Amino acid sequence: MTTEKIILDINSLPRVDIEFMNNTHFDELVMVQKLGRLISTYQKSIAASKYDTQQITQEFENWIEHSHDHFSQENALMREVEFPMYQIHSTEHERVLAEIQFVYATWKNTGDIETLANYVFFTWPTWFITHINTMDLITAQFAVMNGYSPNSAPLYK
Ligand SMILES: [Fe+2]
Ligand SMILES: [Fe+2]
Repeated sequence: MTTEKIILDINSLPRVDIEFMNNTHFDELVMVQKLGRLISTYQKSIAASKYDTQQITQEFENWIEHSHDHFSQENALMREVEFPMYQIHSTEHERVLAEIQFVYATWKNTGDIETLANYVFFTWPTWFITHINTMDLITAQFAVMNGYSPNSAPLYK
């Protein structure tokens, strides 16, 4: 297994046919990258015990809120256009949100930076790219094919 961190490039993030979804994905990546930088700084700090972890916790909470809105917007879009695979896509959103919340709870309870780093640098980026390339891509394609404007504002915020 490679120990090389997965740092996603904002410019090579896969794009889907609906612009608000792309914007949300960019914003989310920027957030996770910021969290990643804080984690790396913490890992490199000599006096880790004196490091103020509040910033990491705060950035993590921002990310959870953003993920929640991200998924709710896509769920609302799927309902609006009656996407036939709504159940599969929305269940995946639920699963990942619960996973992120679990990692957050673990961080809060144990302060274990390695578990958090592992999630932010490996598990999540791998999931994010795959999810955009599969479920989000098909959802956006289906919506546009059914007359939904690519530049519409999100239905839920
Ligand atoms: Fe998405
Ligand atoms: Fe999605």
